[in-house]
Amino acid sequence: MSDRIYTLPIEQTKWKVPSGNTTVFTWDYDEGSDRLLSLYEKGKAKQWNASDRIDWSIEVDLDSPDLVPDEYVPIFGSRLWDRLGTEDRQRVKQHVTSWQFSQFLHGEQGALICASKIVQTVPDLDAKFYAATQVVDEARHVEVFSRYLREKVGFAYPINRSLQALLDDTIQDSRWDLTYLGMQVLIEGLALAGFGVTRDQTREPLARALNAYVMQDEARHVAFGRLALREYYKELTSAELADREEFCVEACYLLRDRFLGEEIWEHLDLAPAEAVAHINGSEAFQLFRSLLFTRIVPTLKDIGMMGPKVQRAFAEMDVLGYQDIDLEAVMAYDEEAADAIDAQRIAQVKTTIDVGAGAGADA
Ligand SMILES: [Fe+2]
Ligand SMILES: [Fe+2]
Repeated sequence: MSDRIYTLPIEQTKWKVPSGNTTVFTWDYDEGSDRLLSLYEKGKAKQWNASDRIDWSIEVDLDSPDLVPDEYVPIFGSRLWDRLGTEDRQRVKQHVTSWQFSQFLHGEQGALICASKIVQTVPDLDAKFYAATQVVDEARHVEVFSRYLREKVGFAYPINRSLQALLDDTIQDSRWDLTYLGMQVLIEGLALAGFGVTRDQTREPLARALNAYVMQDEARHVAFGRLALREYYKELTSAELADREEFCVEACYLLRDRFLGEEIWEHLDLAPAEAVAHINGSEAFQLFRSLLFTRIVPTLKDIGMMGPKVQRAFAEMDVLGYQDIDLEAVMAYDEEAADAIDAQRIAQVKTTIDVGAGAGADA
């Protein structure tokens, strides 16, 4: 990407984070855990090439009013929104799209860095094996979101401040389980719910396909985090667990605030304080924001991270009810949704070939 497509010059947004890793070697090459090794097998078998699986020739119409439904624009219903004409509203929708995909993109780069960090820091070889497949998955996710922004949207936003703060905390911490907790469970958990909203609500076929395919990979990543942490957290003292709980609470508040979109209102000079005040008070937006916790809450419960502090924070955020969501069923649906898009694409290609053959026979 060139500077041309960034809302801020990339020179201004360069970021380096010190990370006090301890690199762990192991000389124990014996067979590892069956469940981790079967996840590693699945990780290898389910690799895909973004250049072939996604039809990049699909045109994205940035002027279509369907690009983002009105209700999905965070300032929809405000006096600010009411004052805007049709053209300005469309411009806001384009910026909301760019901002959203930009945050997905930056989060994916965070995941790429964290997955490679896990390869270094996790003690067991089976986990290093699996994490190595995830490194390739995350590189592919960075590839698809950056290509979508570059070729279809045409401009990108820098990383959101709340997301950056959480990435900073996650990467700087030298404890391997904190990388899992911050990245695999919290940041990816929230991203998954966000991808799900795009996959299920957008009428734009390219965005739907790439979100569905990324989600199919992410289901494995979340399974990896759950497997590794569930066992490890059983061994920790109550003081060590309380420390992790505190991290989760702080992270969840940062994640909740990541969707205010301040960067958009600042960039478009749309009364940022008024916009944020509207968003914070909007009932529709509260509901959308709480939906973003549908993956995080049951996962934290599953790994034994639902102590009093976390429960209190979730009750305050009105998301505690999500703890009983059946994660296996939700992830099975993520698999099916991607397979359904594949089936549709293959059927379309077959129809094109049949029509071509029919035309050839007629000639
Ligand atoms: Fe990813
Ligand atoms: Fe991931």
